[in-house]
Amino acid sequence: MAGAGGDVPVPAGWTGENLAFRYIEEGDLPDICRMLAKDSVCEWLFFGPNPVEVTKSYFAPLVESIGEALARGSLPENPVFTLRTKASGRFVGQCALLGIDFSSGAYLIGYQIDEPHWNRGYGTEACGFLVYYAFLVAGAYRLNGDCAAGHAGSRRVMEKCGFVAEGCQRKYWHARGGFHDRLLFGLLAEDLDTVRLDALASSFAAISG
Ligand SMILES: CC(C)(COP(=O)(O)OP(=O)(O)OC[C@H]1O[C@@H](n2cnc3c(N)ncnc32)[C@H](O)[C@@H]1OP(=O)(O)O)[C@@H](O)C(=O)NCCC(=O)NCCS
Repeated sequence: MAGAGGDVPVPAGWTGENLAFRYIEEGDLPDICRMLAKDSVCEWLFFGPNPVEVTKSYFAPLVESIGEALARGSLPENPVFTLRTKASGRFVGQCALLGIDFSSGAYLIGYQIDEPHWNRGYGTEACGFLVYYAFLVAGAYRLNGDCAAGHAGSRRVMEKCGFVAEGCQRKYWHARGGFHDRLLFGLLAEDLDTVRLDALASSFAAISG
């Protein structure tokens, strides 16, 4: 468990097949604000599209707490990552694990890919990275995932990453003039067999420095 006890240095980030994942920094906020101001990106989210100030005020405390944890040599409680292409460093989106209150080792996953980059496998790579980070870096025991019932893309991303369908909450969200059922997904550490763990371990590599 890298850095969980402050004994092993926390990497600056990780690379996957096509993307680099780095902890969010203040300098990422303009790209993230632009993305979350788009109707297309927010179509199936329960929030947004957001004015710049709303996005900034949501992320600023996370940026601060992540910076503080890293300065102490600890893993952040709510790690948020900025996704950029490995090849050119172009902004692609973000993904995050939000710790569940009163349940250490359980997280809610989240990912947003900016519209120009849809359908290139980046959403699947981002969700796969969250699975890798949660179970192989942070020592999680459980991941929660959810999406609106009509959100075929997000549902497919979670299915491809091995998440198990756990239920449906009817009319959970009232957004954009309609009601939306909420599909629930989960992934437990014991759902991952050795083959899957080995595949995850070889799919992502720590960036040093
Ligand atoms: C949902 C989202 C993450 C998908 O990311 P992506 O990079 O386009 O997804 P991928 O290219 O990895 O595709 C994964 C699978 O989903 C399918 N898929 C992607 N978008 C789809 C859509 N709109 N409708 C149906 N299937 C879709 C792909 O065909 C692929 O399936 P396959 O491998 O069986 O062919 C992305 O569209 C996004 O970030 N949207 C805005 C923010 C958002 O909704 N986040 C999730 C909140 S729950």
